[in-house]
Amino acid sequence: MKKIIIAIDGFSSCGKSTMAKELALETGYIYVDTGAMYRAVSLFCIQKGLMSETEINELELEKQIKFIRIEFKTNASGISETYLNGKNVETEIRTLEVANGASRVSTLGFVRRELVRQQQLMGLQKGIVMDGRDIGTVVFPNAELKIFLTASPEIRAKRRFDEMILKGEETNYENVLANVKERDDRDQNRTESPLRKATDAIEIDNSALTLDEQRNILRTLFAEKTL
Ligand code: DC
Repeated sequence: MKKIIIAIDGFSSCGKSTMAKELALETGYIYVDTGAMYRAVSLFCIQKGLMSETEINELELEKQIKFIRIEFKTNASGISETYLNGKNVETEIRTLEVANGASRVSTLGFVRRELVRQQQLMGLQKGIVMDGRDIGTVVFPNAELKIFLTASPEIRAKRRFDEMILKGEETNYENVLANVKERDDRDQNRTESPLRKATDAIEIDNSALTLDEQRNILRTLFAEKTL
């Protein structure tokens, strides 16, 4: 069967990584979480003292960016985990502090260029599912299957709110909704590679879809593209 590149882009908290991971598992493809790569650069900045509340030491980060090695390794349970310069950082990169830093470093052109270069190398052999914000527009403009996943801000906030409550975190829905809208705004309005739907991407609004309905849509699209 022909191997393809699958690009999944979309807003935060609309289920891109769940979709991408499942698809990779079903197809035997490699899964790459590009958000984790921006998070790893953020963690690197925090560890090296290159990022304060207000500033990033861009000059130093630009010098060091070539020495940031990000890899993904599958653990014993078959789950892909992020490594920064040889160390497993999967848990560390999921904190709010790192996420906020990731959103800041992802606006820097030299960071994006280096990560895009690494992402393109990962896709040379095809057979890859990559999720992010610029995969179908910048990283793989020729990807055979491009998905642009959306859901209303209210639905995405509700899903995140429910997840946080399940984890026992203190939160309120209005704050979560405000945060979702703020991130949408930042993702869409940054100068460097803003979040856009590629003209040839298939838009899936999963606001009213069950996971099973979404799976079926994807299976059909995958089958069509790999015929
Ligand atoms: O998807 P995520 O929350 O893990 O992404 C972390 C940050 O990185 C988020 O602010 C968006 C940004 N990002 C990006 O600019 N381009 C990508 N391809 C992936 C993520």
